Amino acid sequence: MKPPRKLHIKSFGCQMNVYDAQRMVDTLTPEGFVETASVDDADLVILNTCHIREKASEKVYSELGRLRAIKEEAARSGRQVSIVVAGCVAQAEGQEIIRRAPAVDVVVGPQSYHHLPQLLAHAERHGRALETEFPVEDKFGFLPPPKPQAIRARGISSFVTVQEGCDKFCTFCVVPYTRGAELSRPVAKIVDDVRRLVDSGVREITLIGQNVNAYHGEGPDGRIWSLGKLLYRLAELPGIARLRYSTSHPRDVDPTLIDAHRDLPALMPFVHLPVQSGSDRILAAMNRKHTADDYRRVIDQFRAARQDIAFSSDFIVGFPGESRQDFAATLALVAQIGYAAAYSFKYSPRPGTPAADLRETVSAGEMDERLVRLQELIDSQQSAFNRAAIGRTVDVLFERAGRNPGQMVGRTAYLQPAHVMASPDIVGRVLPVTIESLERYSLLGRLEPAASARRSPLPLQTGA
Ligand code: 5AD
Ligand code: SF4
Repeated sequence: MKPPRKLHIKSFGCQMNVYDAQRMVDTLTPEGFVETASVDDADLVILNTCHIREKASEKVYSELGRLRAIKEEAARSGRQVSIVVAGCVAQAEGQEIIRRAPAVDVVVGPQSYHHLPQLLAHAERHGRALETEFPVEDKFGFLPPPKPQAIRARGISSFVTVQEGCDKFCTFCVVPYTRGAELSRPVAKIVDDVRRLVDSGVREITLIGQNVNAYHGEGPDGRIWSLGKLLYRLAELPGIARLRYSTSHPRDVDPTLIDAHRDLPALMPFVHLPVQSGSDRILAAMNRKHTADDYRRVIDQFRAARQDIAFSSDFIVGFPGESRQDFAATLALVAQIGYAAAYSFKYSPRPGTPAADLRETVSAGEMDERLVRLQELIDSQQSAFNRAAIGRTVDVLFERAGRNPGQMVGRTAYLQPAHVMASPDIVGRVLPVTIESLERYSLLGRLEPAASARRSPLPLQTGA
């Protein structure tokens, strides 16, 4: 028998890439590959890249420089190392990568990962291979997999792709170009995947998609199902402790999704709902298809359905034309909503997007200043939100052992890491924990005897 070849995947960017990396491992395992954490002893290195901002895609070429040296060093001792570039930079810059990086053997876009074994074989026999076409066939054809073991549980919490691609065309965003048109998987396939994961010990499922609440998959009744309807169905499966979904667009929040938050205890009261800006002028220039007030109304609907719900968001500062007043409107929106967490980015022009043709009006210095101010506000909200947990008893889903001996780590409904001293057999269980203190972003607490615990919801507003 041939010894297994070692595979190392380095993923950048979003949760979809984390998920795709696992699917690539699942595709290559039957081909005799085993995963290794060390890039130095890998026979195959896959860079799973992100194109969302310039900084992210620049990393690819510097990584490739390092990998080239590793490849050459291995070749001197007679060992062959193959290099694959996957992900959104592969999709967007396929030919350019082939031209600039001679050490790369295969360039493969996110729609073609099921062809990886063939592409590697092709590269070995005939030289370098590139596949970045959007396939005409169902791009989820390999999911659920031809081989039943291909979707494999890893730990307590798992992502499941329900939808891929985006038709929204926000003017700053590459996703509609790199991930293609929006496509939803049929309900039956998702239910199958979730069942299989739950059977092998997964307790928390996060449904993912670039625009997850635009989900419109074929139901078992032949009708088109929404994300809300899908969540009701999944909540019926025995063994699921927690359901989540990400990332949502404010315009695609429909009444069934709101109702699902009211009716389904397993659906976690924490929603990532990016708004990008608080200024209607900028939202229009971004082609977001909603105003700041539309967004506020959506938030109010969620809150009316479930009083302990909390939100996170994404923001872009310094979009072309963003004035001081526009930025002030963003700060005002953040202050009003009160986020449990949020990500904020400086605008980065992406080649091929409509906004890349706009004149940039915000200086680098001003952009830095706006980012710092926004992040300070978000940080203070996040700290207040975390502090509010102290003294309360909250449910924690335990995932693994902590760094200190005897310590176990899990997450609250709001994804806050929570640490307690306990025996390792609590992994996979949702248990009440009384929070005693905070250490940076982690909560420290003690396990409550389950029967006597009184759970208390966190407060809603954390805004200044
Ligand atoms: N510049 C800066 N941030 C961007 N994002 C997407 N495209 C850009 C860009 N060109 C941010 C958005 C999005 C998140 C995933 O990345 O806030 O929600
Ligand atoms: Fe990009 Fe907008 Fe689609 Fe989100 S909704 S993936 S920001 S185009």
